[in-house]
Amino acid sequence: MDITAPRGTNDIMPDEVGKWQYLEEKIRSICRAYGYREIRTPIFEETALFQRGIGAATDIVEKEMYTFIDKGGRSMTLRPEGTAPVVRAYLEHKMYGGPQPLKLYYIGPMFRYERPQAGRYRQFHQFGAEVIGVGAPEVDAEVIELATYLYSTIGLEDVEVQINSIGCPGCRGRYREVLRDALAARLDSLCKNCVRRYERNPLRMLDCKEEGCRKAMADLPPIVEYLCPECAEHFRKVRGCLDDFSIPYVINPRLVRGFDYYTKTVFEVTYRGLGAQDAIGGGGRYDGLIAAYGGPPTPAVGFAAGVERVLLTLESRGKELPLEERLDVYIAIVADKGKGVGLPLLRDMRHSGLKADIDYLGRSLKSQMKVANRAGARFAVIIGEDELSKGMAMVRDMEAGSDEEIPFNQVVRALRLRLSVS
Ligand code: HAM
Repeated sequence: MDITAPRGTNDIMPDEVGKWQYLEEKIRSICRAYGYREIRTPIFEETALFQRGIGAATDIVEKEMYTFIDKGGRSMTLRPEGTAPVVRAYLEHKMYGGPQPLKLYYIGPMFRYERPQAGRYRQFHQFGAEVIGVGAPEVDAEVIELATYLYSTIGLEDVEVQINSIGCPGCRGRYREVLRDALAARLDSLCKNCVRRYERNPLRMLDCKEEGCRKAMADLPPIVEYLCPECAEHFRKVRGCLDDFSIPYVINPRLVRGFDYYTKTVFEVTYRGLGAQDAIGGGGRYDGLIAAYGGPPTPAVGFAAGVERVLLTLESRGKELPLEERLDVYIAIVADKGKGVGLPLLRDMRHSGLKADIDYLGRSLKSQMKVANRAGARFAVIIGEDELSKGMAMVRDMEAGSDEEIPFNQVVRALRLRLSVS
């Protein structure tokens, strides 16, 4: 077959899917504990949602969106991120009329037309959490705490939390002028992208990875020096709350993030061993977004983690998730004659919660035992000619190597007991 999966997408194969399910279950149980409820929004939205929310002059909107005209002539876009859709749903369903704050989370695929490389895909998955309706700095810290807690529960304790504040539109307006004044005479040493950003989105120049740009911008004053008193106080309090939660962090004055909707706090969680794509999560406050969409002025803050990058980080650290993929029981039957006993036994085992399987290929008992071994089965239930004539199954403990004869009608109960299935 000459058709392959599209570039930058991945099949999640059965051997790997256990890790995804484990992580998703962890996310769900942590979100429950923190009081976040799941929301599922469509995978495509009207293009204008992202243009207005993320910002027309951002890399995502300018270059990376999967946009298409549907059969009705409407411009649609595969969602590149989850915050704008959540806010759209919040407004569409008038959730501002209900109890506040709203704490929501989502897990699902996102799409960005980026150049694929390790850890960067065109279809990737995010776990995101959003808190809508509170401006308190404690919540910025809570969201960061939730993220780091998730990472630590799966064995990633040594992540780095980088934070910065990009202030409100007033602070940014002042700082933009500072940047433009400082860089006007250095435009020659900046990359093509930065020259463009100089006009359209000067703040984004700060996180350019090009060596020349980094050098040219090394002596720029940090944006936090230009924050208004309210934004400065908010940032001070966020740092205080992170200390209260005992979360170590570094202030990265170059952290501006790739979306126009952010205000005040922005943050990223990075893992050093991961190479160029080292951000395993990121987020920030977006106090202006809901009003920008025409809703009531409502503060909000959130973050999203990249599921593939989290799993890659675990792999690069040689960390195994505690996956339980072994079979509880394998039933080995003598071909044809055994099935009258084996099939109902298999059904009863499965219905009572045991992970059980059987041979449908008519293999010899010896090769069925090999299959049982390969599947890591804890027990094998052998039903050969002898067993059929006695009405007893041979139950083999595959770890201890010991055998026990048990009447057919007591096998399920005996196994449940041994496997402590409640
Ligand atoms: P983001 O930083 O663009 O933020 O994405 C969050 C995470 O998604 C990144 O840290 C990274 O782990 C993962 N990610 C992003 N792009 C890719 C890609 N092409 N391939 C693989 N993984 C990727 C947001 O999307 C914001 N909506 C986060 C947010 C929520 N801010 C406030 N609320």
